[in-house]
Formats: sequence, C-alpha cells, structure tokens
Amino acid sequence: MTTDSVTYTPEELDRDATFYVAGHRGLVGSAIWRRLARAGFNNLVGRTSKELDLKQRENVFEFFAATKPRYVVLAAAKVGGILANSTYPVDFLSDNLRIQLNVLDAALANDVERVLFLGSSCIYPKFAEQPIREDALLTGYLEPTNDAYAIAKIAGILQVQAVRRQYGLPWISAMPTNLYGPNDNFSPKGSHVLPALIRRYDEAARSGAESVTNWGTGTPRREFLHSDDMADACFYLMEHYDGPQQVNVGTGSDVTIREIAETIAQVTGFTGETLWDTSKPDGTPQKLLDVSKLKNEGWTAQISLEEGVRRTVDWYHEHIFDIRQ
Ligand SMILES: NC(=O)c1ccc[n+]([C@@H]2O[C@H](COP(=O)([O-])OP(=O)(O)OC[C@H]3O[C@@H](n4cnc5c(N)ncnc54)[C@H](OP(=O)(O)O)[C@@H]3O)[C@@H](O)[C@H]2O)c1
Repeated sequence: MTTDSVTYTPEELDRDATFYVAGHRGLVGSAIWRRLARAGFNNLVGRTSKELDLKQRENVFEFFAATKPRYVVLAAAKVGGILANSTYPVDFLSDNLRIQLNVLDAALANDVERVLFLGSSCIYPKFAEQPIREDALLTGYLEPTNDAYAIAKIAGILQVQAVRRQYGLPWISAMPTNLYGPNDNFSPKGSHVLPALIRRYDEAARSGAESVTNWGTGTPRREFLHSDDMADACFYLMEHYDGPQQVNVGTGSDVTIREIAETIAQVTGFTGETLWDTSKPDGTPQKLLDVSKLKNEGWTAQISLEEGVRRTVDWYHEHIFDIRQ
C-alpha cells in the first residue's frame, strides 16, 4: 500500500460547482453526465475531442484556466477491444499517457479539489487470482494483447497516488470491469465483446440468417456492468470514498460468453443457431473483479444483465443510423 498524506472526509459535492466530465460523449462519460444532471449539478462542462483535443497540452491548460472546474471525472481515453489494442499498441500507450498527463497536470495547476480517474480491469496481472482484488496491482505480468494500454492506465493510478502524497489532494481512481450501454462503440473493428455480439445477432436477426458464428468455445467467464450502474458508482465514490487505492467497480458475478450470447440472441429476436469456431482463441478463462471494497463502502450494482442488455439493444435500434463506425 502506498503512503498518503490526505486528511479529507468525503462529503456531498456542491451542485453549483463547475464539474468537468472529460469524455462526456463516450459510453462512460455520457452515463456520468446523465447521473450528475439527475443529481442536480447545474454547471456541467464537456468538450468533444474536436473542440478540445486532450493530447494538446497547451489547449488543455488554457481550457482549465478558463473554466476553473472544482471537480473532474477523467473518462476520456483511447479505448478499444482486443483487435484494436493488439493492432495499435503505440497509439493506446502514447495517446492515453498524453491525455492523462495533460488533464491531471492541468487539474493540479488549477487546484481541482476532487478528481476521479478511470482505469480498467486490464491493469491487473494476467494470472491474478480470481476474483481479482485491488492489491493484485503490480504483482505479475500483464496480458500481452493490451499491455500498452494497461501500462498507461497504471501510470494514471500512480499519478493520482503521487498527487495525494505530494500535494495532499483527495483524488481517487476507479477500475471498472467490462462495461456496456448507450453510446457504446458497436463498430466491428473497435468494439468490446458485448456490443460486438449485439451488432452481430441483431444483423443476423434482421437478415434472417440461419446461424451466427462466434470465436472460441463460449466457455470463458466474463463480468459485465451497465454504464448507468458504473456512473452511479462513480458518483457514489466521489461523495463517499477517499483513499489512495483504486476501487474495483463491477457486479461481483460473471457469466460465460455462451450465456451472454444466448441472452443477446433472445433479446434481439435471433432464432437461428449459434456456432462456435473453436479454432479461434478463447482468451483468459475467467476475469472477475473482487468488489468487496466497493460493497463495504456501501454500493452494489442494480441493473440485471438481461435488463441492461434489453435497454442497450433498444438504444442500438433507436440509433442504428448514427452509431460510431
Ligand atoms: N468500455 C469499457 O468496457 C470500459 C471498461 C473499463 C474501463 N473503461 C474506461 O472508461 C473510460 C471511458 O471509456 P468508454 O468506454 O466510455 O470509451 P468511449 O466510449 O470510447 O469514450 C471515450 C471518450 O473519450 C474521448 N476522447 C478520446 N480521445 C480524446 C482526445 N484526444 N481528446 C478529447 N477527448 C477524447 C472521446 O470523445 P469524442 O466522442 O468527443 O471523440 C470519447 O467520448 C476509459 O478510461 C476506459 O479505460 C471502459
């Protein structure tokens, strides 16, 4: 456990304060924005990557100096599935390091009171004991297909811890499991497993295809959290948690890829056969976060997987012509 010099008691955040949600159009950022708006925050600030490229350090510093946010959630990042991560490792390392460094440095220079940095469960070692506890961080080798991305995220956690140690600011980090929901990336090249399956089954249902073929055996176990639950957890942590250690955010239970495929087939109305291409790799057999720390803080997920998939498929249908490509 890292040393710390923060003496802060978490409290209700000021609804009138300027709150910057970096990445507010993305899966996580848009859910956090909705959650904060519902809680009554009336000075939310967001910028698209076109309006403010967070890789541009000077522009980020100018933006912070002009808007002077009191609170910041850093949900902007270059994010992708296994294919994108293994094809463009330099981009995932370099872009994410720059985005984090610029935002966290500018937040420090402008005395931002509370920052929530978002990492990912891929920061944990490939062979970490399941379910994965927070203290597994930096105890072993990473999964090579996304190690560049993971190293950038680990650097972000350490920067937050270092700011706490050196400046005594109550900044925190959260590590979500696999997320899904509105505004997700459904593109075949960039998506994660759940949105990829939604698109595949929905297209098969529409075209009347007789079968859908998925990679692997369908037996690996994965945990999925709806982005509205994630946003609720982030808001909860900002008002109730303080500490140097990152907090895992998940449901605490997992399903097989086969089970999630069956749920998605049912919700999208696909009645054909699901085939499994066992010549393709399965990936790690299980990935489940230990969420007892978050539970002990008083938060648990509320949205069941079936309900969450249903809501996401509804959103997908409504936005089928304007989803990210
Ligand atoms: N999705 C998951 O399953 C998952 C799981 C664990 C952790 N997380 C973490 O949650 C965070 C958000 O992920 P997400 O799934 O919400 O990703 P996302 O849907 O792809 O959204 C990322 C957002 O970041 C913004 N962004 C990217 N590059 C930028 C740049 N150079 N300048 C300014 N903005 C930039 C994008 O803005 P524009 O839309 O304006 O381009 C986008 O809205 C990430 O830190 C990720 O590691 C996600």
